Amino acid sequence: RLPIHPEINSVIFSEELIQARVAELGRLIGQDYQRSDLLVLGVLKGAFMFTTDLVRHIYPYPASMEVDFFKASSYGAGTTSSGVVQLDSSFKKEGVRDKHVLLVEDIIDTGHTLSRLVALMEEAGAASVRVAALLDKKARRRIPFQADYTGFECPDEFIVGYGIDYAEKYRNLPYIGSVKEEFIKHD
Ligand code: PRP
Ligand code: MN
Ligand code: MG
Repeated sequence: RLPIHPEINSVIFSEELIQARVAELGRLIGQDYQRSDLLVLGVLKGAFMFTTDLVRHIYPYPASMEVDFFKASSYGAGTTSSGVVQLDSSFKKEGVRDKHVLLVEDIIDTGHTLSRLVALMEEAGAASVRVAALLDKKARRRIPFQADYTGFECPDEFIVGYGIDYAEKYRNLPYIGSVKEEFIKHD
């Protein structure tokens, strides 16, 4: 096991805890999609790690499963959401039409990103749209939003790791933790 990153203050969700919960979510999702053609859509960049781990655990197997990614961001380099969600310009509605879409996100914060994405998938003619979010930071919600599958309730702290960045750093860490105060530039 690698040592904790020197800029990390404390580990909030350990690698073991995350992996155990991701496996449970995979079983819950598998139970619900047994007879469906499932399209798993990971939201880049933050959900890259959660998505690749989650799909390995989706069981029982759906009738068929596709895995794809969609890029959406609103944070840029700062610590707060801009509220404006930048969407994947190469998105094609035809790829979603009549499919059972599972959007996979690392974290729900204000709710802006997922509200936009669910609406977009519905407009694109998805047969159904559900959301799996590893973390739910309820205290920060600006738009009401509830995921169908949630990994953990998240304290209202500035966290990174397991796909989640601060100014593009720390996405590679296998655990989720808080950054030492001296490494945060407040807006
Ligand atoms: C982060 C995170 C979620 C979103 C959640 O993405 O990965 O996608 O913000 O925040 P919200 O509920 O307030 O919309 P970010 O915009 O930082 O892009 P990234 O995934 O590429 O880091
Ligand atoms: Mn994101
Ligand atoms: Mg980000």
